[in-house]
Amino acid sequence: MNIQIIDTKPFADQKPGTSGLRKKVPVFKQEHYLQNFVQSIFDSIGAPPGSALTVGGDGRYFNRQAIQIILKMAAANRFSRILVGKDGILSTPAASCVIRKHGTFGGIILSASHNPAGPSGDFGIKYNTSNGGPAPEKVTDAIFAKTKSISQYKWIEVPDVNLGKVGEQTLDDMIVQVIDPVSDYAALMESIFDFDAIRRLFFSGFKMKFDAMHAVTGPYAVEILQKRLGASAGTVMNAVPLEDFGGGHPDPNLTYAHDLVEIAYGKDGPDFAAASDGDGDRNMILGKGFFVNPSDSLAVLAANATLVPAYKKGLAGIARSMPTSAAADRVAQSLGLACFETPTGWKFFGNLMDAGKVTLCGEESFGTGSNHVREKDGLWAVLFWLNILAVKHQSVETVMREHWNKFGRNFYSRHDYEGIPSEAASGLMKHVTESFAELTGKKFGKHEIRFCDDFSYTDPVDASVSSGQGIRIIFVDGSRIIFRLSGTGTEGATLRLYLEAYEPDPARHNLDAQEALSDFITIASQISGLRERTGRERPTVIT
Ligand code: G1P
Ligand code: ZN
Repeated sequence: MNIQIIDTKPFADQKPGTSGLRKKVPVFKQEHYLQNFVQSIFDSIGAPPGSALTVGGDGRYFNRQAIQIILKMAAANRFSRILVGKDGILSTPAASCVIRKHGTFGGIILSASHNPAGPSGDFGIKYNTSNGGPAPEKVTDAIFAKTKSISQYKWIEVPDVNLGKVGEQTLDDMIVQVIDPVSDYAALMESIFDFDAIRRLFFSGFKMKFDAMHAVTGPYAVEILQKRLGASAGTVMNAVPLEDFGGGHPDPNLTYAHDLVEIAYGKDGPDFAAASDGDGDRNMILGKGFFVNPSDSLAVLAANATLVPAYKKGLAGIARSMPTSAAADRVAQSLGLACFETPTGWKFFGNLMDAGKVTLCGEESFGTGSNHVREKDGLWAVLFWLNILAVKHQSVETVMREHWNKFGRNFYSRHDYEGIPSEAASGLMKHVTESFAELTGKKFGKHEIRFCDDFSYTDPVDASVSSGQGIRIIFVDGSRIIFRLSGTGTEGATLRLYLEAYEPDPARHNLDAQEALSDFITIASQISGLRERTGRERPTVIT
């Protein structure tokens, strides 16, 4: 093998965020930029020579070129085998599944999740470890440290691999195994859920719409929902993955998945509607004219888990990210299960799952998953809901309302202020932090603040500490206001304001969430100087 050593210089901006390194495509296209990061991964993970890796991405613009670069560098770095999805495609949960099932040393996932794609869109790369989950902070810190001192990377000059053909090829001494991106994942889903019951549901005339948003889940949804479960043709819309996601913003929420929302709220809307994001790890669940808040979705899945074959013996525990509402905590309490509150980002759930402490995890940001893989999983959540509906023979809305009747309703909303100047965002956070002493015990009408803090998490498995994870303002009745800065945005800063109020009285469960939370919206604005500091009259996105 003719390994070349290429001289390079560090780039100053290669710090991985919540979900890996995310930048605009032109940044990634700079000479040596991707190569530096990939070499930094290889230099940090300690893979013995001869290891195998999984590689794939969400199919966005630059995915194929990036994969060709990674394959050549992997060969030069003495990997022996690479499993790569056909056409470079692997959804994030499918990549996690493949890493685990085939026991590869780790995996490289190319995605910027739901961020828009195309020549001036976003691109991203992250490393997952052998458990199939995002690399822990000590690994991403090591990768970042390496990017700051890198001076050379390894390369071999060979022709590109044909990614369009399933089967084995060689790239110098290394085997490139092009795999069907769907089959391992579909088999895993079939081993978890009651496919027969779901098939009967569709056969009975149950109608569903799934919006793949021209992103990676199209082929997965067509295979599983239409081919294996018998949903009618056309159930999956926008099913063909496009390099620019059709110019859309494949984030499954009420703002960006508006085409689907219109269908779900339309006159002859389907019984069930769902969407996933760019790389397939997020999900949005809708009934006929009804939206399921992701925090509630986690609680419903937890409360009904024993209806699913894989969870029929019950759950080990539940985990949710700090800003996610405490709806799941109420289920955990009633079932006598442990419930963990972690910082935002899926990587914190991995340790808990590996240690057997939790089965289900969720985030308010349309992320739900279980220990079947080590990523959140959009289609898995959709199948979980279908399994529940198939067994209970109830509508989405009835399932949700009965849940609230039993457990009470945690009214919840997230207000995002996107693309604000970084100084304004950090100034706001600093101001609220400096007001903690003055805020504690303060009354706003009938709402009294019990305590405020900057959330810090000590991992119960490895005792690692993650601090600075968001400001919590907690009221005497358990209501919460949370301020947090996004770790995934690529332009300016994104301030997230999370609001939660608990309502036990079923007579008040019909309130609109913004209305139910209006006092807290006002308090949040008052204590942070939100309007003056951000110059914004209203949030960019309300969920
Ligand atoms: C956002 C979500 C977070 C999720 C992450 C990756 O991160 O809020 O829950 O884990 O995307 O999908 P943020 O931009 O808030 O840092
Ligand atoms: Zn995603």
